[in-house]
Amino acid sequence: MKLILFGPPGSGKGTYASILEKKLGIPKVNTGDLLREIAKTETELGRKIAEYANKGELVPDDIVTDILKQRISRPDCIKGFILDGYPRTIPQAEALEKISSPDVVINLIVPQNVIIARLSGRLICPNCNEIYHKIFLKPKNDEICDKCGSKLIQREDDKPEVIKRRLSVYKKQSKPLIDYYKKKKPFGNVRCNKVDIPPEAVVERILKKLKDLGFLKD
Ligand code: AP5
Repeated sequence: MKLILFGPPGSGKGTYASILEKKLGIPKVNTGDLLREIAKTETELGRKIAEYANKGELVPDDIVTDILKQRISRPDCIKGFILDGYPRTIPQAEALEKISSPDVVINLIVPQNVIIARLSGRLICPNCNEIYHKIFLKPKNDEICDKCGSKLIQREDDKPEVIKRRLSVYKKQSKPLIDYYKKKKPFGNVRCNKVDIPPEAVVERILKKLKDLGFLKD
């Protein structure tokens, strides 16, 4: 299955994709993580990516699409993938159609107050990209990754002014994809209105939606 997990910043795409990849047996492909890896390198491309991402702006379509194309051509994506963070513009969606046409789109609907509460408390592992929250999804040991033991950090783009910019970029450049995909692909909405609903409960809703759309059997 080639699944797009779509939603605004902080809607939980990364958290749910990590659980879904184990349940569905297909890898999550997060363009944000891929770009952050390149941004860490002391290269011109790395510096260019960091400049866009740290301001909350989208990285140019051609750069992201190239990176995405390379990632999904790897053997682990042969049975499908879960896209988290791509596409984010209509030109990206058109490019994806030519690279590997997605089967189904799940759109996460989350109110702005929940998004802000989530992003302002998010911690990530700079080594294995595991996602935590200071209050809602705490690591077992204070600010240490449960999976690999690295010290957790706050993302550069999770500062209040950058969160605001990312939400406004989402509304302008990414939200139009909802209407685009509603007309073109099997499409399901999944709502999460409260800040403290356990991720597993939302994942169950996503799986139910995929069943209703005919993509999973009981
Ligand atoms: P990216 O890393 O993709 O960021 P994003 O889309 O803004 O999404 P987030 O990672 O912020 O949120 P999420 O929905 O994954 O939520 P999460 O699961 O972490 O992109 C970063 C930047 O890279 C972009 O701004 C852009 O510059 C660039 N970029 C990336 N892709 C691009 C593209 N295609 N084109 C151009 N530029 C691109 O959850 C958030 C928090 O909530 C966490 O702390 C989590 O623990 C908590 N949480 C989640 N669910 C629950 C729950 N049910 N209960 C309690 N807490 C929860």
